[in-house]
Amino acid sequence: MKTIDGLPGPCSSLRCDRNGRENAGADRARRRREAGKSINEPTTEDVTVSIRLGDEAPNFTAETTEGQIDFHAWKDGSWAVLFSHPADYTPVCTTELGRTAGLQAEFAKRNVKVIAISVDSIEDHRGWTPDIRDVGGTDLNFPIIADSDRAVSGLYDMIHPGEGDTSTVRAVFVIDPANKVRATLTYPKSVGRNFAEILRVLDALQLTDAAPVSTPADWVPGQRVIVSPTMATDEARQRFGDVEEVKPYLRWTAQPTKTS
Ligand code: BEZ
Repeated sequence: MKTIDGLPGPCSSLRCDRNGRENAGADRARRRREAGKSINEPTTEDVTVSIRLGDEAPNFTAETTEGQIDFHAWKDGSWAVLFSHPADYTPVCTTELGRTAGLQAEFAKRNVKVIAISVDSIEDHRGWTPDIRDVGGTDLNFPIIADSDRAVSGLYDMIHPGEGDTSTVRAVFVIDPANKVRATLTYPKSVGRNFAEILRVLDALQLTDAAPVSTPADWVPGQRVIVSPTMATDEARQRFGDVEEVKPYLRWTAQPTKTS
């Protein structure tokens, strides 16, 4: 783990709030002096949060539009998509949450629970909710976390100080039933996300968990897939039937059913 200064962090497992990071420079030097640290000695606020694929998704408790939750208990062994939006009552965010509400049946079909987060208050979330229905055409059907103290946003490194202010960027964490982070996406505030892509990633993850295959560029469900490099071609033919070998390392086969 690296610090802002490029120095090793004092504790690799520490998950630190980064709210002061945009005050880098004079403010940090002052706090370092106050903490009795020399200029080269890292403090806990220097530790950069890093959630990598394969890490356990950090647990948290939070206030949401559906009441207080413990994240792992709320997930309860399903897949989850945790996604941040910069602010309530903003146009791109309104379209994104409306679209997500409209896709609820698609997420449910894949055993995925969706939860949004921003640093706005629960009152703002509740006041904004009718607009999401007006714009998207579907009642809000998933919780929004009110992260006014930025505790969860900090834990998941959703605030990127170089992106202008202390609101969250558009971060997406795809988390599996064992609470492992399996995919992440990060978009800037000005660019709305493609929720069909998030469903596509979920389909690809669930497929490749169930069979020794990978998905090629631009794959969509139903298209042919790639036999895992760890599987011999003879074995692949026994398992999948028709296998086209275009290179020793690139073997195509039809998409297997999830239970195969
Ligand atoms: C929006 O949702 O439209 C938005 C929010 C924050 C910054 C820029 C755009």
